[in-house]
Amino acid sequence: VSNHRICAAIYDRATARSESAGLAAKRQELLAPLRGNVIEIGAGTGTNLEQYRELDSLLLIEPDIAMRKRLERRIAAVNPAFEVKVVGTTLGDELTTLSNGSADSVVSTLVLCSVRRIVPALDEIRRILRDGGPFVVIEHVRAKGPARFLQTGLTPVQRAIAGGCHLNRDTRAALANAGFDVSDVEDWSLPGSLPLVRSAIVGHAR
Ligand SMILES: C[S@@+](CC[C@H](N)C(=O)[O-])C[C@H]1O[C@@H](n2cnc3c(N)ncnc32)[C@H](O)[C@@H]1O
Repeated sequence: VSNHRICAAIYDRATARSESAGLAAKRQELLAPLRGNVIEIGAGTGTNLEQYRELDSLLLIEPDIAMRKRLERRIAAVNPAFEVKVVGTTLGDELTTLSNGSADSVVSTLVLCSVRRIVPALDEIRRILRDGGPFVVIEHVRAKGPARFLQTGLTPVQRAIAGGCHLNRDTRAALANAGFDVSDVEDWSLPGSLPLVRSAIVGHAR
């Protein structure tokens, strides 16, 4: 069971610059149009909560105890008009109790870099997503240029200090290998961020 107290405590401040430089706007663009029953994985401190509009329900998956405490507080403060539940499942290590196709959309923002076992995690996401439903992603990924060598060299350090985050993950390839159609997933540059986490992908995997 993870309990990254320091990561959780500094997370919102550490990402503030990127949020105001365009990350928050990108979250809104992708999340405000969602409807129905949404499942968000790795919800962290609840940064996406205020971006959802007219959902029927929202299920937030967050295994880290320290993150979950902050998440519960944010839910109470935002008090959304739809039902919100939180579960502590570690995707990839544990199966959820969710039934096949129970999500109209699944959301992952800056999470797939940290999931320890990405192959079973993506299989589980495919299982719970309804046929054709979007898996909405904003993820930082392995750089295409020489920065990827630095990313690979520094990933052991980053994993130790940043809650298991891999700097060099080819998440687009992982999605494609898991059977997702990635034609609606674009390359992006994470605004206001350090070069090591700047290469990103955004969009809808189906
Ligand atoms: C960098 S934070 C991102 C938080 C938030 N989604 C955001 O956009 O700011 C990554 C989160 O993913 C969670 N996480 C890591 N591995 C996970 C897994 N296997 N299943 C679900 N969540 C996971 C971590 O606990 C952490 O809260």
